[in-house]
Amino acid sequence: MKNTVVLFGFSICLALAVFSGCRKQENKAEVTLKLGHVLDIAHPVHKAMVYMAERVKEKSGGRMIVEIYPGGQLGNEKDSIEALQLGYMAMTKISSAPMEGFVPKMKIFGIPYLFRDSEHFWKVMKGPIGRELLLAGESKGLRGLCYYDAGARSFYAKKAINRPEDLKGLKIRIQSSIMSKKMVDAMGGSPASIPFGELYTAIDQGVVDGAENNPPSFYTSRHYEVCKYYSLDEHTMLPDILAISPKVWNNLTPEFQQILQEAVDESVEYERKIWTEAELNDLKSVQDAGVKVIHPDKQPFRDSVRSIWSEFEGTDIGELIKRIQEVQ
Ligand code: GCU
Repeated sequence: MKNTVVLFGFSICLALAVFSGCRKQENKAEVTLKLGHVLDIAHPVHKAMVYMAERVKEKSGGRMIVEIYPGGQLGNEKDSIEALQLGYMAMTKISSAPMEGFVPKMKIFGIPYLFRDSEHFWKVMKGPIGRELLLAGESKGLRGLCYYDAGARSFYAKKAINRPEDLKGLKIRIQSSIMSKKMVDAMGGSPASIPFGELYTAIDQGVVDGAENNPPSFYTSRHYEVCKYYSLDEHTMLPDILAISPKVWNNLTPEFQQILQEAVDESVEYERKIWTEAELNDLKSVQDAGVKVIHPDKQPFRDSVRSIWSEFEGTDIGELIKRIQEVQ
């Protein structure tokens, strides 16, 4: 009996010690930043953000915490952008496409076949143009912290798309983006804007016949279960962007700003390393699941969107196109 009482007392002490230890640990956080995004936890861009959050915790000794809410728990990309502008949410990771509506210069990424290849893309992103565009939204309540590689986007559908003519009569889901609309229109398809989180059902129920995205997004969203043809025309290279509300950023001490930016920059290098492998693996996984991967001749797709290039001649976007082409 005596032993039982001692053991019971000991257990309570232990539980209290652990509990207060945990509380102490939690209490160490001086700043907690909520980060919402729409991707799955198996997606390489999500993994990069987890890496960033770990680095932030480590570098700050637990005084700054980034809490990540994946899978659209805190809303779709448009909602998240607005939440940042209002300061309700600290950080979000979105595609550059829905940012166009808020930061017009972001339209540049929607110019089909703008970048020669991934090397050209990163040269531009890491250079003055990339930096300029990242901060272009600051006055609109969106401070870009970095770009993550999101590869190239290609069509997937319930039927094979070998040439632009095959898009005729097909309803293709696009992001909330005027440039994506222009592109699908120019290629001959019928664009329909639907949030990413609603897309699986939309395809399954026949609201649209297909969509377009990079291999990790096609795979981790399981859209391959309802679209059995993936046509690698690689029409756009829209970067993913990690953004913070300027209100939140300006409230951080210079030390915390530095820690966050360093952790973000390290996560970019990490993501670039895991991206290529993820693309290859995910392409293989969709093939194993019965998807036919098509490698179409890209020239007819390029030709079909020439009108978009000429439409912007003499505008700010036209100037940016020239500057980007000049980057060697
Ligand atoms: C990519 C991108 C997402 C975006 C999605 C979409 O997966 O990483 O940020 O939401 O495309 O097509 O909506």
